[in-house]
Amino acid sequence: MVHGKDISSLGLTTQLTLLGRDPDQQCGFVNPPLYKGSTVIHNTLDAVTNKGGRFWYGTAGTPTIENLENAWTQLTGAAGTVLSPTGLGSIALVLLSVVKSGDHILISDSVYQPTRNLCNGLLAKYNVSTEYYDPLLGDDIEKLIRPNTSMIFLESPGSQTMEMQDIPAITKVARKHGVKTVLDNTWATPLFYKAHAHGIDISIEAGTKYLGGHSDLLIGLTSANAECFPALRETYDDLSMMPGAEDCLAALKGLRYLHLRLKEAERKGLLLAKWLKNRPEVLQVRHPALEDCPGHEFFVRDYEGSTGVFTIVLREGFHKTNFKNMLEKTNVFRMGFSWGGYESLMTPVNPASYRTATNWEHKGFAIRLQVGMEDINDLKRDLNLAFERLTAPLGSRL
Ligand SMILES: Cc1ncc(COP(=O)(O)O)c(C=O)c1O
Repeated sequence: MVHGKDISSLGLTTQLTLLGRDPDQQCGFVNPPLYKGSTVIHNTLDAVTNKGGRFWYGTAGTPTIENLENAWTQLTGAAGTVLSPTGLGSIALVLLSVVKSGDHILISDSVYQPTRNLCNGLLAKYNVSTEYYDPLLGDDIEKLIRPNTSMIFLESPGSQTMEMQDIPAITKVARKHGVKTVLDNTWATPLFYKAHAHGIDISIEAGTKYLGGHSDLLIGLTSANAECFPALRETYDDLSMMPGAEDCLAALKGLRYLHLRLKEAERKGLLLAKWLKNRPEVLQVRHPALEDCPGHEFFVRDYEGSTGVFTIVLREGFHKTNFKNMLEKTNVFRMGFSWGGYESLMTPVNPASYRTATNWEHKGFAIRLQVGMEDINDLKRDLNLAFERLTAPLGSRL
């Protein structure tokens, strides 16, 4: 509902312009105002004693924070949303909300590495045992479920290695056993993958990436279905870790034309992925929309689009000095973490160094690419020169 009206029958791009704002409540201004604050004034003894009203103190959020929560809830088709200062903060919040001491949890072996660190460190300290599973397991995950399994954490595509998971198969098994499912949906966003409609209980978006879109914002959004939202909100209220209101306004701005940025990331990402597939130096292009990517069939079946992040595996035998030269002397692509901004990035990855349930068999170097808004010819030229440096005789001055 926006302005008291149901907007679900409107086109997606219209909805994106309407969500999280109401000019009639904003003195006619198009965008919502910035509410910041700690103290909220209560006019009655009753209100101050019972902490009355939706906004009783700053830790309960402000109307600006609520604008983004509401927008995300409607976009994702969830029962409710809570926000965090980072995507990793959202992951921590969800783990603390779902899991208790003595539980066993199943985490995809392709998960974002800091999620692993949280499970192996913080959760282990509280007697939660983590088991990593092959992301391509599908409904065979049933064999791993124990009486004390409380959660299956999915990420599709997987960080760095890009495997697509059979999410509906896993959620079906999980539901049968009363196990909660959590998806890190950052790559696809709710525009290209409707997590809750595919049976996911809790969905996480690192808004730092595509929602922010400019590499100047850290924010996390967690949406949950009706069964999981009350516990999630309670944990959120207990921890009181929320983003600043300015960052929520920035995220709302990002929402208005998220579809344009995603469509452009998809177009350029695919152009470059297909071009890279024909390079003699490249052994494999792991882009969910291309057949070489493990789990590609689930992408075709379930997803409405792809974005601009994918990984290439190089053939074996290139020298480390040349690889270093390849990465360090680029003009357009730069090295750096995160993705989803307007600038192109290339980052070396080494999945063999952390995978535990599955083996990363490739011996060649691997690079994750984030395709930005630059001219495709400049990107290709930059990569052409990078490959020249990779294949140059050792010691040459390219
Ligand atoms: C898939 C995925 N999830 C979550 C995060 C965490 O987001 P943030 O950087 O906002 O903590 C990242 C960051 O790179 C990510 O790639």
